[in-house]
Amino acid sequence: MTSHSAPDEQRALVTGATAGIGAAFARRLAADGWHLVLVARDADRLADMAAELRERRGRDVEIISTDLSTDDGCVVVERRLVADAPIDLLVNNAGISLNKPFLRSSAEDEARLLRLNVHAVMRLTLAALRPMTDRRRGAVINVSSVAGFGAVMPGSTYSASKAWVTNFSESVGQSARPFGVRVMALCPGYTRTEFHQRAGINMSKTPGWMWLQADDVVDEALRDLRKGKLVSVPSWRYKLAVAGLRHAPRRLLHAVSQDTRGRTGRDAN
Ligand SMILES: NC(=O)c1ccc[n+]([C@@H]2O[C@H](COP(=O)([O-])OP(=O)(O)OC[C@H]3O[C@@H](n4cnc5c(N)ncnc54)[C@H](OP(=O)(O)O)[C@@H]3O)[C@@H](O)[C@H]2O)c1
Repeated sequence: MTSHSAPDEQRALVTGATAGIGAAFARRLAADGWHLVLVARDADRLADMAAELRERRGRDVEIISTDLSTDDGCVVVERRLVADAPIDLLVNNAGISLNKPFLRSSAEDEARLLRLNVHAVMRLTLAALRPMTDRRRGAVINVSSVAGFGAVMPGSTYSASKAWVTNFSESVGQSARPFGVRVMALCPGYTRTEFHQRAGINMSKTPGWMWLQADDVVDEALRDLRKGKLVSVPSWRYKLAVAGLRHAPRRLLHAVSQDTRGRTGRDAN
């Protein structure tokens, strides 16, 4: 892939495309000339989004209503990734958090988080990379999180799932590079979307300066993909935070996260 400003026939598949960062990807890619395949569970919202993009941008838009935390849901999208009209860009964006620490969680909820945040990302990346490496072009963006750089939310397993996504993408990205294919982890900080509300996480005490806009996250992600980065951390605020997470002594980080948890009452992001 040479540019995100695509010639007419390039096609992107975006999971979790009806809200937040995924919707911002869909709108931006359609504006840049991409045809789209949109994936999420809510069929009505998918149809509305597809109608908007067809009407305003004149792009071909397919929709797949499916639950990616299930095997059947992954199979449907895997089939589309290897179908005849090829996918040039896969954005593995759908993801969730749980509003409870591990000690109060259930195996069922933890498995649902891992199936969506990790298992679906692995399966769809694998399915996409086969035809991409054969054609020697294409890209995969796996939406991870700054949370994946450290266990800074005591008891939350969300960070662990995103640590996997970042490490996986960085590793696979290196092996795909010689084939002319890019794989990049996108690691945003707090972004204004439906994410926290869906998980029932109260973010009212999070200061305004910590929030990113989904459009800005997407803009920086596509710029970093063009530059060939393996890991993208949008905004200087979060680049600094990641440097701290990588280099600060663990004991200091644990003390800060315990203190933050005490002040906000928050377990997970
Ligand atoms: N917002 C943040 O602060 C933040 C920060 C760092 C990283 N992230 C990451 O960014 C990604 C996108 O999050 P967001 O904030 O944009 O979330 P969001 O606003 O809640 O949107 C989530 C999207 O994913 C879809 N989705 C949820 N569960 C699904 C499932 N089981 N199968 C298929 N689709 C599903 C939703 O549609 P349906 O409900 O219709 O399925 C929706 O389109 C996630 O991976 C998240 O971890 C978010």
